[in-house]
Amino acid sequence: MESCRVPHHVLLLFILTFITVPVSAVTTVQVKFNQSTALPCERKCSLEAKWTLFSNRDDAVARCDQTSCWSLKEGFKMSHDQYLKGDLTLTITAADYSMRGLYTCECDGEDINDVRLSIETMISSVQINPGEDLQLDLHVSERVKVIYKGGDSADPYGEQICTVDRSSLNCTAEYTPRTSLTNTVLTLRGVKLTDRGVYIVRDMENNEDLHIYTVSVRGTYSV
Ligand SMILES: *[C@@H]1O[C@H](CO)[C@@H](O)[C@H](O)[C@H]1NC(C)=O
Ligand SMILES: *[C@@H]1O[C@H](CO)[C@@H](O)[C@H](O)[C@H]1NC(C)=O
Repeated sequence: MESCRVPHHVLLLFILTFITVPVSAVTTVQVKFNQSTALPCERKCSLEAKWTLFSNRDDAVARCDQTSCWSLKEGFKMSHDQYLKGDLTLTITAADYSMRGLYTCECDGEDINDVRLSIETMISSVQINPGEDLQLDLHVSERVKVIYKGGDSADPYGEQICTVDRSSLNCTAEYTPRTSLTNTVLTLRGVKLTDRGVYIVRDMENNEDLHIYTVSVRGTYSV
């Protein structure tokens, strides 16, 4: 009788192990723009596996079954050899801004894990002559804003100078006459010495910085 009883401390450990299992923590994969990366997922499936964007669960970006794998959206792929071994990794060949988001790995109709794909903040230094145009790539044309922190300003938050939503530019009264938007590029015309400072391109949806430009304006004196 005694031999088949589980000691109490083992039972307790067993229970604790289950209680402390994290509730499906979301992994984030950060990649540089235009570089390849992989979203991890592991499970042996008997029917099929697929990856979907959380915002569009009906359309898979890639899918596998016992005979083959398909890319349903350009730039995403799964490997059939890996699939058969239980490796459902989603490979992204060249990350771009439209690919950012939360992805779900699904196996035989069951959600296995979620992975967030984000693109590393780009950092640029720009030197410009007074009177020239400053061009800032916003990378996206929806729900993005530009924040300016002046060279002498002690304000840690800076000033929001423009927002762009659905390709429409909306700047403060001071900046409106000097700015224009072409695709995802914001132009600030006729740069002055006082325009030096830091320009932050921030995605309003995810509150994520896409690009930080440090702009210096050359002195007006000749060298
Ligand atoms: C992305 O990278 C490829 C080669 O790795 C290069 O040919 C292409 O110009 C790059 N595209 C952009 C938009 O940087
Ligand atoms: C532009 O932005 C201001 C304040 O940021 C807002 O009050 C105004 O409604 C916006 N205009 C448009 C056309 O989006």
